[in-house]
Amino acid sequence: MKFFIDTANLDQIEEAQALGVLDGVTTNPSLMAKEGISGEANIFNHYKAICELVDGDVSAEVLSTDFDGMVKEGEALAALHPQIVVKLPMIKDGIKACRYFSAKGIKTNVTLVFSVGQALLAAKAGATYVSPFIGRLDDISTDGLHLIGEIREVYDNYFFETEILAASVRHTMHIVDCAKIGADVMTGPLSAIEGLMRHPLTDSGLAKFLEDAKNL
Ligand code: E4P
Repeated sequence: MKFFIDTANLDQIEEAQALGVLDGVTTNPSLMAKEGISGEANIFNHYKAICELVDGDVSAEVLSTDFDGMVKEGEALAALHPQIVVKLPMIKDGIKACRYFSAKGIKTNVTLVFSVGQALLAAKAGATYVSPFIGRLDDISTDGLHLIGEIREVYDNYFFETEILAASVRHTMHIVDCAKIGADVMTGPLSAIEGLMRHPLTDSGLAKFLEDAKNL
């Protein structure tokens, strides 16, 4: 399973990259706003800075909601750097734009996916990635992980190449469960990734080894 970090914070991206397990980055307008970035030039420069920090795909979301606007924005984003993936909302014009970009060989990430039907449509439109938001489904007492399993089953039935990018990952067990279900990618916060390495028996075992090593 690929590990993407879900942030626009350069320090966190750098830290995750230094760990040596990072395969890419996802951003969204809320995450960009959180970093205080505004204005097209600044936004574009920030995407370029992220691409320089990591080796993998970097999802950059369009803000338009009509086909022509999405195409214009997506083309400008894709021209910024070869690692840019055009992130499109799961709406009618988003699906049309997804087909447009996949026909041109430009990578896409269809976002805000909350049902198997939406994921099926994204795959039919040739999406590189589909982003089901598991945390937001959990937030409304729905089983986000169950959706990942259902999409896995449908995609495997027809050998769709669209990668299931489990998004809205909130904690470490989401990552473990996504890996068990067979998500191709997960995107989450650095804290959730770092949580994977923690175990009290590792800490106490190391403390004992270091203590005993004093007698060597
Ligand atoms: C996915 O690409 C989104 O950026 C993200 O995972 C949303 O997560 P949230 O529900 O924690 O905001």
